[in-house]
Amino acid sequence: MLRISLFLPKKSMSHIIAPSILAADFANLQKEIEMVNQSEADWFHIDVMDGVFVPNISFGMPVISAIKKHAKKTMDVHLMIVDPDRFITDFKKAGADILTVHYEACKHLHRTVQAIKAEGMKAGVSLNPHTPISVLEDIINDLDLVLIMSVNPGFGGQSFIENTYRKIEKLRELISKTGSKAIIEVDGGVNDKNINKLVSAGANALVAGSFVFKSNNPLETIKNLKNS
Ligand code: DX5
Ligand code: ZN
Repeated sequence: MLRISLFLPKKSMSHIIAPSILAADFANLQKEIEMVNQSEADWFHIDVMDGVFVPNISFGMPVISAIKKHAKKTMDVHLMIVDPDRFITDFKKAGADILTVHYEACKHLHRTVQAIKAEGMKAGVSLNPHTPISVLEDIINDLDLVLIMSVNPGFGGQSFIENTYRKIEKLRELISKTGSKAIIEVDGGVNDKNINKLVSAGANALVAGSFVFKSNNPLETIKNLKNS
């Protein structure tokens, strides 16, 4: 089983920062991973795209295993693939600590969530920008994490969708009402301009790709996001 210390940031009150490896320099992956290891980031966010659920292909198991070899922090794996049940055991073997599937990609979401937990991983469910929070009412108590997409999934570097704040607030209400232990992660277009408002709305974990890896000083950028 995953120890809880892997999942929560050291300073339990502060928000989690999860740099998205999708925006890293793949030709220098080890260097990029070491940078995240040394930074104030809490997790590695790892985006898997299949070219079917989303109009892009990223990488799969061999690359995740290679990241795992060097990564010293929680591996937060975000699956943008159809029918993820086929690969749950493989993602565990490759090194995932948290496995997040899309609501829109699962026919039997409850079964998928149970299968992820049975492998000893934390289970997350992600919602596309057009999918309402209400679809989670009957599964929220089974979830460790909800990932709200603040862009349409498939690409890094897109602009943040403003309706996200309202969705976070609705999800925060649902979590309080049901006593769910799920944490709220936000993914897409996160930067130093919107992070405070996202945390105030109720976000616990923030994914940042381009804003971190395309900056002049990624270590400093992560530090600023963490201390925002
Ligand atoms: C988009 C991915 C995101 C992406 C975020 O489909 O899920 O994790 O890497 O990248 P930025 O921060 O550049 O929007
Ligand atoms: Zn992602």
